[in-house]
Amino acid sequence: MRDEVRPQLSLPLERLFEEPGLAVERLPPPLAELYGGELGFGRPLLYANFVSALDGVTAVDPAAPGQGGLISGGPPGDRFLMGLLRAFADVVLIGAGTLRAEAEHVWSPGRVYPPAAAAYAGLRAQLGLPPELPLAVVSGSGDLDPGLPALAGGLVLTTRAGAERLAGRAPAGLRVIAVGEGEALPAPALVAALRAEGHRSILTEGGPHLFGQLAAAGLVDELFLTLSPVLAGRQRLGTQIGLVEGTALLPGLDRRGRLLSARRSGSHLFLRYSLPLGEVV
Ligand SMILES: NC(=O)c1ccc[n+]([C@@H]2O[C@H](COP(=O)([O-])OP(=O)(O)OC[C@H]3O[C@@H](n4cnc5c(N)ncnc54)[C@H](OP(=O)(O)O)[C@@H]3O)[C@@H](O)[C@H]2O)c1
Repeated sequence: MRDEVRPQLSLPLERLFEEPGLAVERLPPPLAELYGGELGFGRPLLYANFVSALDGVTAVDPAAPGQGGLISGGPPGDRFLMGLLRAFADVVLIGAGTLRAEAEHVWSPGRVYPPAAAAYAGLRAQLGLPPELPLAVVSGSGDLDPGLPALAGGLVLTTRAGAERLAGRAPAGLRVIAVGEGEALPAPALVAALRAEGHRSILTEGGPHLFGQLAAAGLVDELFLTLSPVLAGRQRLGTQIGLVEGTALLPGLDRRGRLLSARRSGSHLFLRYSLPLGEVV
């Protein structure tokens, strides 16, 4: 298996720093080699994975679909890590904007980095997780195509109005859960709904509007941030958005990361932070 995986990954991630004493899971050998060591989590937890440009931009134009690789440049190291983080999850949580931007994507570990698909599956089996990784999509409006491949076997967390909009259109296996009444569903209610479904390990892949709400509510335990060596630029009133959008944190909410690990592949940095609740400032 090692030979199948390695050729497409130019380098294993090079470990630059790791906080001692982190929980570790013994990764199947090709994964440990490619990640540059072991990885693990205390459970239950909510962890996020994003890629950002050097200047903090995470999306150039959210209304333009298919721009996923513009910021990351699509390097194998980023794709490998994305798959690895998915392999640890009970469920992936995203907002409807992210689904609309990548409507053909499927949020599975193997989809994003196929050479390691078998190893990811082995890790999920080792962790006692089912082979299929469900996707949970948050939508106030319910303005979604319930037939999208990503939604098969997944969940839509929505409002009462959104659930009415989707009524009768959801294929078998897609659960539509009305989490609240108003247009903006409270972040704690979203997480509570997933916990009530039995999901302990929640990976959010954004987008920045949803992430901001989760971070403001103090619900994000860890952030994996890939720093891509590109400058995206921003114009006043332009389309570009950052890692957190639609939510102000400072002053008032101190969400200050503690670096848990730093890895590198080429000029990309792979940073892992814990996000303990800070002081109100
Ligand atoms: N660089 C990265 O790592 C990364 C990661 C993820 C996404 N992205 C990019 O980010 C862009 C999308 O950004 P975004 O911030 O707009 O996406 P988003 O947070 O995924 O989606 C926003 C939408 O999600 C729903 N939503 C979020 N929070 C809600 C709440 N509390 N209650 C009810 N509905 C809620 C709403 O859907 P309705 O409109 O249906 O009500 C809202 O319009 C895309 O270009 C995507 O490719 C980049």
